[in-house]
This record gives sequence, structure tokens and C-alpha cells, in this order.
Amino acid sequence: MVDNIWSEFAWSYDAICSQLNCYRRMVAKILRDTKGRRYVIDAGCGTGLVSQPLVERGHTVVGFDNNVAMLGLALRKHAQAPEEARRRWKVLEGDVRSFPQGVPGEADAVVLNNVLFYVREPGAVLCESLERLKPGGVLILTGPRKRPDLQKVMMHSIEEWKAEGRWDETLKSATTYHADVTRRLVSDPNEMVTFFETEALVDTLRGLGFSRVVAADSDDYYGENYYVCVAR
Ligand SMILES: C[S@@+](CC[C@H](N)C(=O)[O-])C[C@H]1O[C@@H](n2cnc3c(N)ncnc32)[C@H](O)[C@@H]1O
Repeated sequence: MVDNIWSEFAWSYDAICSQLNCYRRMVAKILRDTKGRRYVIDAGCGTGLVSQPLVERGHTVVGFDNNVAMLGLALRKHAQAPEEARRRWKVLEGDVRSFPQGVPGEADAVVLNNVLFYVREPGAVLCESLERLKPGGVLILTGPRKRPDLQKVMMHSIEEWKAEGRWDETLKSATTYHADVTRRLVSDPNEMVTFFETEALVDTLRGLGFSRVVAADSDDYYGENYYVCVAR
């Protein structure tokens, strides 16, 4: 288990991302592309913001993360879920570069939502994902195309919250804290280390043996992020 910048992020990440329209749109695409796929691995699951709606829709989900605080919030959501949902949802400690032993293979989908940018060895993560997928299973990857302009993302989001009447004191104080940690995350070259242009990522995945592109765009986070879904 590691104690890195994600420990400082955990509570504001959960409070802010759950409210961001751009994050919600990305999760909606993940739900679209995992529809009908029973067993999903949520690698780098963070606070469980993707795992939870998947579990609520009836999927079997194994999520894992290597940060103590992010995982702590995911475990809290797991503990508060109904018993039937808890039986279909495992939350584990683990590293995406070498999936933990408790993650069964033959997955119908592997999701890496905004995780690869923090990993210096993306190739290892993609190979691990491929190995855990059954033929026809999908890998969903999202992340920044280049060092992102997260100030732009927050400004658009605040405008939207104001227009929707959601810009309340709770969101304001979480945003102030979150913006400070985000500034450090984005500007420190040792924190954000891996970026992919959408087409280059698709080429890499084809080279690894993924056979079909289900979706690939550069729309999320106001054009900052790639969204790629490929089938094994
Ligand atoms: C931006 S958050 C995304 C969390 C979650 N996927 C989501 O959509 O909300 C990045 C997450 O990746 C995790 N992470 C980064 N490197 C990791 C690694 N090598 N192994 C496991 N988790 C990792 C961090 O701890 C953090 O929780």
C-alpha cells in the first residue's frame, strides 16, 4: 500500500468528481460499453466512483487500488452497500502493473478510468489487462492526451454548477482544497507521467493484439481526455 498524493486527494476527489458533469459523462460511456458484460475489473478503482454504479446495475466487480486513503473510501462504500451487492463487489489492495492474486481472470471488461497517467510502465498495465480478459472482452481506458489544463476543466464545471444552482458552500470549500492539490499534481513532472493521443493509444492496443475498436474519441473533460474501448 502506498501513501502518495492520492492520500491528500481522497476526500475532495470523491466529493468533486462525483459532482463533475464531465466525469459523469465519462462514467455514462463506461456504463454504455460494459452493458451486458457480467464481470468487470476496475483497476485503480480509487474511491469506487465507477465500481459502485456497476455494482448497482448488477455486475460482479473486482476493484483494486494501491493508495490507502482512496481505497479506504471505496471500502466504506462497500461496507454501506446492501448485502446482496457486497457479495458481487470485491475491493482489494493491489498494483495495476501486476494485478493482485485475488483478481480472477476471464473478465468481461477491464476498466482503467484515469489511471494510466500515473504509471511509468503503461505497457505492463495493458498486458496485464489483456491477460485477464476473455476473448471478446473489452478494455476501457481513459486519461489525459497531454499535460491537462485542469483549471479550464474546473472553470467550465463551476459555470455549469452555477447555471444548475448546485454551486453551494460544500462544493465551494471542496473545490478550493481540490484545486490546490490538483495544481501540484498537474505541475509536478514526477506525478503525471504518461499521456496518450487517442489514435496512438489505439495503434498501441492493436499492436498488443486487441482485435476491434469499440469506441475512441477525445471528447471528455472538454477535450483534454481520450476515451478508448477495445475488444480482445
Ligand atoms: C484519478 S484517480 C481515478 C480513480 C478511479 N479510477 C475513478 O475513476 O474515480 C487515479 C487512481 O489510480 C490509482 N493508482 C495510481 N497508480 C496506481 C498503481 N500503480 N496501482 C494501483 N492504483 C494506482 C491512484 O491511487 C488513484 O486512486
